[in-house]
Amino acid sequence: MTRTVYLNGDYLPETEAKISIFDRAFLMGDGVYEVTSVLGGKLIDFDGHATRLQRSLNELDMPAPCDMDELLAIHRKLVEINGIEEGMVYLQVTRGAPDDRDFVFPDPETTKPTLVLFTQNKPGLAETVKPLKIISIDDVRWGRRDIKTVQLLYPSMGKMMAKKAGADDAWMVQDGFVTEGTSNNAYFIKGNKIVTRALSNDILHGITRAAVLRFAQEAQMDVEERNFTIEEAQGADEAFITSASTFVMPVVEIDGVTLGDGQAGPRALRLREIYLDESRKAAI
Ligand code: PDD
Repeated sequence: MTRTVYLNGDYLPETEAKISIFDRAFLMGDGVYEVTSVLGGKLIDFDGHATRLQRSLNELDMPAPCDMDELLAIHRKLVEINGIEEGMVYLQVTRGAPDDRDFVFPDPETTKPTLVLFTQNKPGLAETVKPLKIISIDDVRWGRRDIKTVQLLYPSMGKMMAKKAGADDAWMVQDGFVTEGTSNNAYFIKGNKIVTRALSNDILHGITRAAVLRFAQEAQMDVEERNFTIEEAQGADEAFITSASTFVMPVVEIDGVTLGDGQAGPRALRLREIYLDESRKAAI
């Protein structure tokens, strides 16, 4: 079945959706995005993603393509048309396509934002647990990682460095402390305590992170938001990542050091279970 995608008001077969070569995201990386997961045909934490999208747009002085109710309706329609039970909806807003290349932002009166959405069908997404091997790499990204921009070249290079090293993903390190994963937030567990870096411009404010930390407290686990090193994580009982596309995924190896017995940790798996249960209940 050909996937139906959304582009600036139209629902089109993916092969027919075309964007200008002058689009600011293509030339300048001038765009923001969100990835919302779908479970049981419903959207997980849509409000969180819509709120973060609005924040990204505000921070970059980028006009919103439409209001958030309309965005919800587009998400739902695409999920329905494409028959998605489990998977993701990818959304991207760019500063649009002016007539020519120019560093200066175009006039928002004449250049309207580009809005693109497409679905990714991932049957079995919730059931699949693949414990991860992680390597550490330097964090050389720009200083506004709290804005979810499409400038993903370094995260993409990080995934390739991990792959070449026989690992699954990379955690990035700045001034000796872990910031986050290439496309996820990073955590370790020691005893009853979950440790993860505090929110700042250094990391993306994960929507899954917010939910998991809330559920952790309900599950009687302590949460400590602070800087931590790779060495500290290597000495932990368990580690894990969170994101909209992996939920909670256990980490079993960091820079060649095996955590615990090398199996997915019971607390991380429990957090994943709670997250999935609660998210399904609240899905819209
Ligand atoms: N990535 N940190 C980074 C750098 C990310 O790219 C992501 C998400 C997260 C987790 O955020 P959330 O829980 O809101 O998904 C943290 C998405 C999934 C992606 O790029 O595909």
